[in-house]
Amino acid sequence: MLENRQQRFRFSEAPIWDLQRTYFEELGMKAWNNDQVPQYITSNPMIATAYAEMIFGFLQDRAGNGDISETVTILELGAGAGRLAFHVLQKLCELRDYADIPLPPFRYVMTDLPFKNVEGWHNHPALLSFIQQGLLDFARFDAVHDTELNLVVSGTSIRKGDLKQPLLIVANYFFDSIPQELLYVGEGQIFECDVLTELPGNFDQLKPSDALKAMVLNYEYRRAPEYEAATYPYRDVIAMYQQELEDSHILFPVVGLTCLERLNQLSEAGFVLITADKGDHRLDNWKFAEPPELILHGSFSLTANYHAIQYVLERRGAQSLFTTHHYKNINVGCICMLDNPNSYANTRLAYRRCIERFGPDDFFSMKEWVDQHVDTLGIQQILAFWRLGGYDAEFFIQSAKRISSLLLDISDEELADIQNGIHMMWSSYYVLEQRYDLALDAGLLLFEMEMYEDAKRFLEISIHADEDEPVPTVLYCLAICCYELELEEEAMEYTREALVIEPDHEEALALLNALSEAE
Ligand SMILES: C[S@@+](CC[C@H](N)C(=O)[O-])C[C@H]1O[C@@H](n2cnc3c(N)ncnc32)[C@H](O)[C@@H]1O
Repeated sequence: MLENRQQRFRFSEAPIWDLQRTYFEELGMKAWNNDQVPQYITSNPMIATAYAEMIFGFLQDRAGNGDISETVTILELGAGAGRLAFHVLQKLCELRDYADIPLPPFRYVMTDLPFKNVEGWHNHPALLSFIQQGLLDFARFDAVHDTELNLVVSGTSIRKGDLKQPLLIVANYFFDSIPQELLYVGEGQIFECDVLTELPGNFDQLKPSDALKAMVLNYEYRRAPEYEAATYPYRDVIAMYQQELEDSHILFPVVGLTCLERLNQLSEAGFVLITADKGDHRLDNWKFAEPPELILHGSFSLTANYHAIQYVLERRGAQSLFTTHHYKNINVGCICMLDNPNSYANTRLAYRRCIERFGPDDFFSMKEWVDQHVDTLGIQQILAFWRLGGYDAEFFIQSAKRISSLLLDISDEELADIQNGIHMMWSSYYVLEQRYDLALDAGLLLFEMEMYEDAKRFLEISIHADEDEPVPTVLYCLAICCYELELEEEAMEYTREALVIEPDHEEALALLNALSEAE
């Protein structure tokens, strides 16, 4: 029997954080395989469109201010699988081209802790055209320590004071994933919650995800008067917690705040933070809060303390936007740490339109319902929801069977809209490390819709991308596409290929006969 070991740590120094780093650094982009670390909610085309609108509003505001020549840097922290960056850049370029108005130039810099992610993005085919246009760069950036950015594509660095425009920071599922302090407020005093970890004897042999599961955390309180000293950098917010809270556990984002301070140094003109997380900006949510529970998904996440970030930055002149209604799954905020933030009307209007009125959290709540009820939807509801979600591949994958079952009763106009949707989806499809054969789903549906030219294109993409032996039925469908397109030779080739793999394939045999007779 293995003996348990017990050790005591400050919360922000507990081994959970090293395991978190190791988890992401070892797995790189594989961390998002099987949706182990969730990415859909923070990276889908709908949230990316909302971010692109806010960034576009910000570019308009800068242009309106006459700041048109210097490049605006959009810096994403913890960019993970890279899907958000791809969709944001795509939508932002669409807005820029559609509006055709004077704007400052921009570049997007994706950053993360693991160098493996930087390499993965660099080699990702969907990102290539943005790199070639000079719109995209990458850097490894550790939010705990780093003070500058070394860009891998351009080979340049961004250091203190280099940027003339404000820095635009994007941070999704980020502040809940980096170290935080854990404080307890009781009877007007601040305590640190130390962690007593119980580790199984074989702890050192476990993979980070298993080690996180195996670890038992208990908390012990220790008086921490240093937080109450007048010299403590975040004294104001702590004093407010002492006054307003009782018997409450507070995750306190010292690393998050110092990271923002380090990034603030890069620009002479401040920053805008656009961020989404399971994070609370209302003090009420922290009242009588219990000790936090780690939400495990390979790595782990906690709750981000947007209240502290908002409070500290507002005391320094920022204006922050959070929704007036309560969020359910994801809280999206926009904090403008700028001179005269009130003058950024287009940024604020975009927040109002794309987050406050109906935003990513609302969309996700509806998506959860729609996924459960897709078999009851009509084609118009499917098309409307797909459009609302930015012709997202994930929704198509969920609904392809339902669309197929409705085909007999739908109009030519609806067929054309499905076809158009498939094209839109394909042009904004970001392949993740764990591949899904979207081209096959699209090709088979188009085949059923008797759109043979498109079906042929997608089915050929599918069989060429797949290293396994092709499925005879797919080859047969390709043969039919060719036949319908009067490409008899190709039809014959696909039919023969299908029959090599499955000599008794009845439809393929019938087609072979028909083609041979026609020769
Ligand atoms: C939950 S994932 C979120 C990824 C992505 N933003 C998304 O929404 O899907 C947390 C991200 O934070 C990154 N991360 C963790 N610790 C970090 C650190 N110290 N500095 C920079 N990034 C870090 C991880 O590598 C990972 O990409």
